[in-house]
Amino acid sequence: MRFDIFTLFPEICTPYLNESILKRAQAAGLVEVAVHNPRDYTEDKHRVTDDLPYGGGGGMVMKPEPIFAAVEAVLGIRAAGQDDPGVPIVLLTPQGRPFTQAVAQELARHPRLALICGRYEGFDERIRQHLATDEISIGDYVLTGGELGALVIVDAVARLLPGVLGDPTGAEDDSFASGLLEYPHYTRPAEFRGWTVPEALLSGDHARIAQWRRREALRRTFLRRPDLLFNLELSEADKRWLGQVAEEIVATRPAS
Ligand code: ADE
Repeated sequence: MRFDIFTLFPEICTPYLNESILKRAQAAGLVEVAVHNPRDYTEDKHRVTDDLPYGGGGGMVMKPEPIFAAVEAVLGIRAAGQDDPGVPIVLLTPQGRPFTQAVAQELARHPRLALICGRYEGFDERIRQHLATDEISIGDYVLTGGELGALVIVDAVARLLPGVLGDPTGAEDDSFASGLLEYPHYTRPAEFRGWTVPEALLSGDHARIAQWRRREALRRTFLRRPDLLFNLELSEADKRWLGQVAEEIVATRPAS
């Protein structure tokens, strides 16, 4: 899969992309990431990418021409008048739809993705209306630019692609992938400062381990993100277990 990131600050993105799993995925040809600077597509002497807002007010606004020129040149399209460029063109903005694991899975089905990072106070509205095909927010807070959002998307999408994680089942047990938060993990030693690893995990009994993991994923989701349970198919055994967890909580609550 290929990602094209459009940013006025490529140096923010490249160090993250050139380490660890993303570095390996690119070396193996599973992922290709190109970072483009709209400033290189300006035509004026001062290579201006922002300007004052019409109507006044503080802050600067990203000009449309360099962004349109950069995206059109890189994707080989002419956006104006074109309904479907084929490649999703995602604008990173706090006004976008919330980024979730389900959105990552949806984006991972495309062979190519363009990500446009904003800076300054905002974009000229024509970028939103006539170039972007999607708008994504990585959370309800405002960042100084879209670069972290673009990296979050590249990271979350890339690790879903076949072969990117060393373990082929790596992404299956992820928190959210199954609709539940992930169960707790342990590694050696079996005892550390007196804290022991749950007995079921040491048993070598695969059915028992699977049951323990399912139960602990349910417990953790119930305690931390009960909202996730609303949309989930639960077996009768799952429901009985959640009833037990609830009883445990009531039984162990401090006296008031
Ligand atoms: N740019 C600034 N804030 C952002 C956010 N929360 N998500 C995506 N892009 C942004």
